[in-house]
Amino acid sequence: MPVSIVVGLQWGDEAKGKMVDHLAEKAVAVARFSGGANAGHTVEAEGKRFALHLLPCGLIRRDVIGMIGSACVMDPVAILEEIRSLEGNGISIKGRLKISGKINLTHPGYRWLEKQNETDLAKERIGTTGRGIGPTYERKYRRNAIRLEDVFNMGTFKTLVDHHTEETISSLNLGSADVEKLHSDVEKFIEATEKVSGFADDVSLFINKVLKEGGLVIAEGAQGSLLDPDHGSYPFVTCGQCVSGAACTSLGFGPTQVNDVVGILKAYTTRVGSGPFPTELDNDTGERIRQAGHEFGTTTGRPRRCGWLDGVLANYTARINGCTSVTLTLLDVLSGFSELKICTGYKDDKFTTGRSMDELIPLYETFSGWTEDIRGETEWENLPEAAKQYVLAVERIVGVPVTSVSTGPGRDDVIWR
Ligand code: GDP
Ligand code: IMO
Ligand code: MG
Repeated sequence: MPVSIVVGLQWGDEAKGKMVDHLAEKAVAVARFSGGANAGHTVEAEGKRFALHLLPCGLIRRDVIGMIGSACVMDPVAILEEIRSLEGNGISIKGRLKISGKINLTHPGYRWLEKQNETDLAKERIGTTGRGIGPTYERKYRRNAIRLEDVFNMGTFKTLVDHHTEETISSLNLGSADVEKLHSDVEKFIEATEKVSGFADDVSLFINKVLKEGGLVIAEGAQGSLLDPDHGSYPFVTCGQCVSGAACTSLGFGPTQVNDVVGILKAYTTRVGSGPFPTELDNDTGERIRQAGHEFGTTTGRPRRCGWLDGVLANYTARINGCTSVTLTLLDVLSGFSELKICTGYKDDKFTTGRSMDELIPLYETFSGWTEDIRGETEWENLPEAAKQYVLAVERIVGVPVTSVSTGPGRDDVIWR
């Protein structure tokens, strides 16, 4: 069996984690291919609620191997905490985690630099998660970043770490109390990196071995396609590539190995952080969706901005990713609305994801709502007619088969059509 890539088709939080966990039942390995601990992937299973940030969701199933690819970025202190939290919940990862030695590390100073950068941007700030993601990718492309594998040569590693410590101190002109705090964080960073280095491995070699033996590998995307630095709402994007193509680069397998690309699409739209959002509902309807969907960030706790489903953007992101199927998630949240809208065009046929995206004016098709509670439903036949019509409309507008529908946060709350 080859690779299945799972990607988000909006601005993140589409329930990728829940669907990766659901699909992982048949997988040998699950591999995260983008981003860092800016992600927050929620899985509800075994009566518990897990919030994973950089660890792949497949680890929750005890027979699955978890991997983290080279195009991800990692804060060693944060991942140790995440591992501790998972193990505290009774899930041992012993012998089941492989992290690419080529992964770039988030030095403690990067968070400080990011904070200053956001302050300097004032009204134009991105609204980042504050996890030092941007500065880590910046240094990667500046070609002086710290990789996990560097720790195997302590001299080189310490020289690199010192360089980034000094850069932080001089860029921010830090006072002595802050310098002391930074040095103490750097000590913890070095210690944590040495501990995490036990998981360093050749991810590409392992994945290709699994594929050769006929095993299924799920490539777990993070963020969403509209946060991608090339194809997303630039400049209000993240810095790691989040579209399906990035899975090959990050995990070291070829495009010929990919069998399917599953696009995860929320039945409405949410966004955290700043930036354009054509179908945003900054009104009572948006608030009603936020409350019904518990739309508060998994990583930062920020209220998510909510709005109608944008079919134009979903059609675009399904194309960019080459989706072979779509899973429509959180459909249950829309129960009880008398009518629902989907954006099917923009005024004057305009379309851009660039700096003038906030000028787009959405045009809507309206659909009947349904009153029945569909939470936890697993049979297509049992859905109210209006809910079926809504799913079929999404399929027509996006142009890709909607093969499954998620009706609740639980592992098995899925309808397969
Ligand atoms: P991710 O970042 O794409 O993995 O998504 P998040 O975990 O950040 O956000 C999705 C939220 O919706 C989580 O709180 C999930 O537990 C929850 N969830 C997932 N699927 C469903 C669903 O079908 N219905 C409802 N009501 N909640 C869901
Ligand atoms: P998951 O994987 C939603 C957003 C931030 C901000 C922008 C840049 O859970 O879907 P960054 O810290 O990455 O430099 O912030 O990207 N963002 C996310 N929004 N879900 C995510 O991940 C996100 N990861 C980053 O809110 O607007
Ligand atoms: Mg999330």
